[in-house]
Amino acid sequence: MNEKKSTFTEAIRQLAKEKNAIILAHNYQPAEIQDVADLCGDSLEMSIRAAATDADIIVCCGVHFMAETAAILCAEKTVLLPNPDAGCPMADMVTPEALTARKKELGNIPVITYVNSSAAVKAVSDICCTSANVVKVVNAMDTDEVLMTPDKNLAKYAALHTDKKIHLWEGCCPFHNTLGVDEVKTAKAAHPNALFVAHPECPPEILELADSIQSTSGMIRFAGESDARQFILGTEVGLLHPISKAHPDKEFFAASQKMLCEDMKKVSLENIRDSLANLSGKVVVPEDIRKKALGAVQKMVDLK
Ligand code: 13P
Ligand code: SF4
Repeated sequence: MNEKKSTFTEAIRQLAKEKNAIILAHNYQPAEIQDVADLCGDSLEMSIRAAATDADIIVCCGVHFMAETAAILCAEKTVLLPNPDAGCPMADMVTPEALTARKKELGNIPVITYVNSSAAVKAVSDICCTSANVVKVVNAMDTDEVLMTPDKNLAKYAALHTDKKIHLWEGCCPFHNTLGVDEVKTAKAAHPNALFVAHPECPPEILELADSIQSTSGMIRFAGESDARQFILGTEVGLLHPISKAHPDKEFFAASQKMLCEDMKKVSLENIRDSLANLSGKVVVPEDIRKKALGAVQKMVDLK
């Protein structure tokens, strides 16, 4: 680690101790951010940890919807997003107004909302899901039809594992959705002994090529449990860091170097230091929205 990085890291750990703060980082965050965090995980693990922590401050190193989810679960805590510009293009593909109108059109069937969405959208949803628990959530619903938003690919993946009719929303992650079959075939040809592991945000034709379909932390666990030595990852390139760190004896390759989410790289060590020192970047969800959104998020967390 260079001198500047280690100075920031020391200052962050010191401030976190003084202020009783916990630092949560998503698996796609830059390596140095993951390394300074108390927990690095997928969206479900981040939510569960936020719900359970006794820290006074939660520093959420990820994008805006992740900090909002922590704020929804922890009304009495301060939630910081060190760079408030970090958003999620997929979360912006659905609004509460459009969702409410569609739900009404479909006869008020339950709405399952991917956590990659705003608090206002969660507030008009029946339950949330993540990539790790989507199949469990869909099958836990007591109706034959559900509406899923915003990710059409996640919904198509869930549809393969349920008898329920799933109505799609036309949203997607621009990075997972554009992974091409040719790119995967090229990566497979270059690494013929590797298993291909894909994230369910990828389109169906990519998932058909996969040896396993997993959330980001699911991929890390899968690599540990598998006898294979090499893996091609159909997900955002940031995952290469935690998966290689967890399994230094195995080799990992990105299916495409183009799968790089700029928003996920917006938090810096300097941002975290400043945010903790000045309590800047607070994410506050208005109480009426928070209470409604909590119903949907808590139901998901309780399903585990
Ligand atoms: P998971 O880490 O929950 O699989 O989510 C991926 C993602 O797109 C987060 O932005
Ligand atoms: Fe959103 Fe995709 Fe970036 Fe995740 S990787 S934050 S889903 S745009």
